[in-house]
Amino acid sequence: MKRMTSRSKNLIRPLVRQLHGYVPGEQPKIKGLIKLNTNENPYPPSPKVVAAVKAAVDGRLRLYPNPTAEKLRAKLAKLHGCKPENVIIGNGSDEVLALAVRGFVEPRQAEYERRTDLAKTTVQFFTPSYSLYPVLADIHGAAKNAVPLNPDFSMPGVAELKRGKQWNFNAALTFITTPNAPGGRGYKTSELEKLCHAQKGVVVLDEAYVDFADENALKLALKFPHVLVARTFSKAYSLCFQRVGYFVGHPGLVTALDKTRDSYNVNGLGQIAAEATLGDLKFYRSNFKKIITTREWLARELTKLGFRVLPSRTNFILAKPPLFPAQEWLQKLRDKKILVRWFSAPEVSDYLRITIGTPAEAAALVKAVREIAG
Ligand SMILES: Cc1ncc(COP(=O)(O)O)c(C=O)c1O
Repeated sequence: MKRMTSRSKNLIRPLVRQLHGYVPGEQPKIKGLIKLNTNENPYPPSPKVVAAVKAAVDGRLRLYPNPTAEKLRAKLAKLHGCKPENVIIGNGSDEVLALAVRGFVEPRQAEYERRTDLAKTTVQFFTPSYSLYPVLADIHGAAKNAVPLNPDFSMPGVAELKRGKQWNFNAALTFITTPNAPGGRGYKTSELEKLCHAQKGVVVLDEAYVDFADENALKLALKFPHVLVARTFSKAYSLCFQRVGYFVGHPGLVTALDKTRDSYNVNGLGQIAAEATLGDLKFYRSNFKKIITTREWLARELTKLGFRVLPSRTNFILAKPPLFPAQEWLQKLRDKKILVRWFSAPEVSDYLRITIGTPAEAAALVKAVREIAG
């Protein structure tokens, strides 16, 4: 991007000038590359979904889409045993996460600093977890409370959090990635329930990867008036391209967020693709099984080759490689046309995050690792 002159700099709010935006995983255009860096699903969407999208590409493109994604909300409500009033759809779950910050957290202002009512301005999350949360807090001018997970990336219990003192039970908004990303661990619904019970502010349980786990916490969003569960069509339902995600929660919270979203936030083809997805869940469930089988195979093979692989309930694994630093492995694998993800954050910089691809892609990765390790 062009360098800014001092005049154009002055046009921009200091908060935005200082902001470090979210860095998405690379989408390179290298022929033959095996792309295991952004947790995309290796299997294409159901043929019924592709057909539904193709059939909708006609003169209707000139019309605005349904502003509240009414049909999709009704279908999701049926799936989750709730009412459409419990559901808000976003342009990817990233959008609903951003709406939560906008809707529930006060930006830091003198008024709150004076009253030392900092909890109202606080976005809280564990580290490591989804690296978008601190960026959303920064964009909003909110305070951040980043609390470390246990060294093995398990979640501290309520008693431990109370003892540790850093956790804020009054934080305006708490994000919990469950199963965790990038760690991969699943958290027990009973543990999450205890934490939700203790928390006074809004809690978002971000279940982006939950279809690859053995339990989910959706019932907590229907039990507690201050808990929202975030889901996405991106990962398990092979629909990153269409950008559809959603919250399930109390109508009071949902209605508040609905006031702050763009009127037509979910594009028409995305709505159609997501609706068709819900009509063919059997197809996807068989893909989850394939991905889980490949995940367990890959974890075993990498362990044999000296990697320390964390247990995963997601469609990726976090693994500490032997022999060379993780960042070097990233480059060595890239030289062999395999792209994985490395994060510079100190708590995960010794690890590689590897998306689960097809069995052939996983086998190619193991072969490349063998060659690199010599
Ligand atoms: C934990 C977590 N939540 C949410 C998202 C965003 O998903 P979406 O594509 O629905 O915006 C991601 C994507 O990487 C994620 O890892």
